[in-house]
Amino acid sequence: MSTMEPLILVHGGAGRLRYDGKRRAARQAALDQIAQTGYEMLKHGNSALDTVVEVVRLLEDNPLFNAGYGAALGLTGEVEMDAAVMTDEGRFGAVAAIKNVKNPVLVARKVMEETDHILLVGEGAIKFARIMGFGEFDPVTDERRKMFSEQRVDYFRRNWEKFRHLYGGDTVGAVAIDCHGKVAVAASTGGIMFHLPGRVGDTPLIGCGIYASSLGACAATGHGECIAINMVAKTVVDMLSETNPQTAADKVISKLKLKNCNCGVIVVSRDGDYGVAYNTPYMGWTVMPKLRDSVLKD
Ligand code: GLY
Repeated sequence: MSTMEPLILVHGGAGRLRYDGKRRAARQAALDQIAQTGYEMLKHGNSALDTVVEVVRLLEDNPLFNAGYGAALGLTGEVEMDAAVMTDEGRFGAVAAIKNVKNPVLVARKVMEETDHILLVGEGAIKFARIMGFGEFDPVTDERRKMFSEQRVDYFRRNWEKFRHLYGGDTVGAVAIDCHGKVAVAASTGGIMFHLPGRVGDTPLIGCGIYASSLGACAATGHGECIAINMVAKTVVDMLSETNPQTAADKVISKLKLKNCNCGVIVVSRDGDYGVAYNTPYMGWTVMPKLRDSVLKD
């Protein structure tokens, strides 16, 4: 029996405003459309887990985002991707530095459901994906290849820290509460452009890029290293025992700003409330149904 009004929040990454208005509008339209798909799934009784995984899969398939097809290239010109999924029962699965698969989030779910492990990395993750039936796929788009070629030389002349902050965005994530009051979270990313081979960001680290518990679920986006060090997603979710999601999100994001940690979060609480906050110039996000957009910054 349905007891809850379902809700879904989706983000397309926190970062700088480096896109023209047309591209930004296209990304927002994609987020809105995909969130609508997720909301329809929830309304038809699908679980929060099925919904967030499907929503992130759709975002991975969209080359406008830095996840799956269209993910950012690392220092060697290859794409290494991270993805994770978690439910409010404490079930977690993730892949890190995985290459040549179309949908890392689906592999992450298989890690959660088919193994006794929580995280597979690199070659082990690729092998596991093949065993699970995921074929070879090249996620490099012409646009990402062009960006890489144009900016690589410049990159080596720049300050590493400055550069990393410039390219920390576009991760995708979703949190949802279903008709039964269950919550789940999923996220996927190509990581930071020009990252070192083998680099793992916050996304596949439990409690860092994503977290869920009986209190709610959170997905973080932004500069992976500082998000991980500050265990952002778990910090936000734990605060839900004392405060509402918007206050939790605001408090954590403000503290991170003082630490120069570029970050954004989306969070849903078990009672169906939600929060969104970011300290970057821009974060694409959307919520369905549209409940209280007016009180949030755009
Ligand atoms: N937040 C994504 C990453 O840094 O890998």
